[in-house]
Amino acid sequence: MPVITTIDDLKRMHKRRVPKMFYDYCESGSWTEQTFRENTSDFDKIRLRQRVAVDMTNRSTATTMVGHDVSIPVALAPVGLTGMQHADGEILAAKAAEKFGVPFTLSTMSICSIEDVAGKTTAPFWFQLYTMKDEDYTDRLIQRAKDAGCSALVITLDLQILGQRHKDLKNGLTAPPKFTLPVIADLATKWGWGMEMLGTKRRFFGNIIGHVANVKDPSSLHAWTAEQFDPALDWNKVAKLMEKWDGKVILKGILDAEDARMAAKLGADAIVVSNHGGRQLDGALSSIRALPSIMDAVGDQVEVLLDSGIRSGQDVLKAMAMGAKGTMIGRAYIHGLGAMGQKGVTAALETIRKELDITMALCGRRHVEDLDHDILLIPEDFEGRWKEN
Ligand SMILES: Cc1cc2nc3c(=O)[nH]c(=O)nc-3n(C[C@H](O)[C@H](O)[C@H](O)COP(=O)(O)O)c2cc1C
Repeated sequence: MPVITTIDDLKRMHKRRVPKMFYDYCESGSWTEQTFRENTSDFDKIRLRQRVAVDMTNRSTATTMVGHDVSIPVALAPVGLTGMQHADGEILAAKAAEKFGVPFTLSTMSICSIEDVAGKTTAPFWFQLYTMKDEDYTDRLIQRAKDAGCSALVITLDLQILGQRHKDLKNGLTAPPKFTLPVIADLATKWGWGMEMLGTKRRFFGNIIGHVANVKDPSSLHAWTAEQFDPALDWNKVAKLMEKWDGKVILKGILDAEDARMAAKLGADAIVVSNHGGRQLDGALSSIRALPSIMDAVGDQVEVLLDSGIRSGQDVLKAMAMGAKGTMIGRAYIHGLGAMGQKGVTAALETIRKELDITMALCGRRHVEDLDHDILLIPEDFEGRWKEN
């Protein structure tokens, strides 16, 4: 096995192993990809204070997230088509998360179904809901997640319509891929991936096919989401969904203090400060830059998690020191999955754990729950100076 020291190592292997269409689906943002880029580059602007002569024994990265004990404050974010990055990808990622002691979130747009993942794991996972125009279908999804013992419902609020991602349109993204000439030429170099895919029956959207009337082949993601996702989702509907779930609710995709206040008012257990990994509103602030104003607005009322741009344990540490109670990672674990399946997801989590642990120690802290602003050097203009609306 190659020596993995960074998430970038896994990313390079992911690119070599997985068809271009699916690698590009993962590694892209919308339009100019400005927000996608700034999600990571803004983390780099924050520096750390090196502290010395502090007892560094008995360190711990363990804490809790939304009532769960976690070995590191990192949950696996919901990622559509995970089962196209590696055969049975959602099951493998959920197993890796369970062993590592972190939550796994299953996307509505997964390849393996809710029941598939529940049948192959024992730890409860989180289910991410996209609301569909077909209310009966949405209700059935919620019921299926309850029946599977999911311990939280993650309602994604930042994708009622799809941000335009040029690469997906140019690649003609479908699941499974359609056999056009460029796709065949690409697949010819991705034999390992292809053989594994032939060995599984899970190659379509497992939560959808067979569960939505008249949808037998949601081949084009863009066409399907345009037809099926509910563009009329508003706070009233969110409140109704929360009532139907009647359990822990995490509202994902909050980037503005006013929306954060609304989420807290509705009684969400947690929010995820997120711009969907730069895949929706290009030109929006990076999540880490949006975090301080959201902490000021609701930090004492609701558990604040953050995703978008996390590629290392140092990024996790920075988010925690700025007040987040935990983080989610998307691409960081998908690179691991695409590179090496379950082992790769574990390698991604282990890489992040080590970086977090050692960085924490070198900043003079022994416990992840003790991370605070004091360990950071944040540029004075970090949040940006914008004209009042
Ligand atoms: C390939 C891909 C697919 C995604 N699919 C979903 C999804 O189905 N539901 C959802 O709520 N978020 C989805 N997201 C967003 C992630 O949950 C998460 O917000 C994002 O990946 C965080 O940014 P990061 O990749 O920089 O960590 C997706 C992200 C990626 C990269």
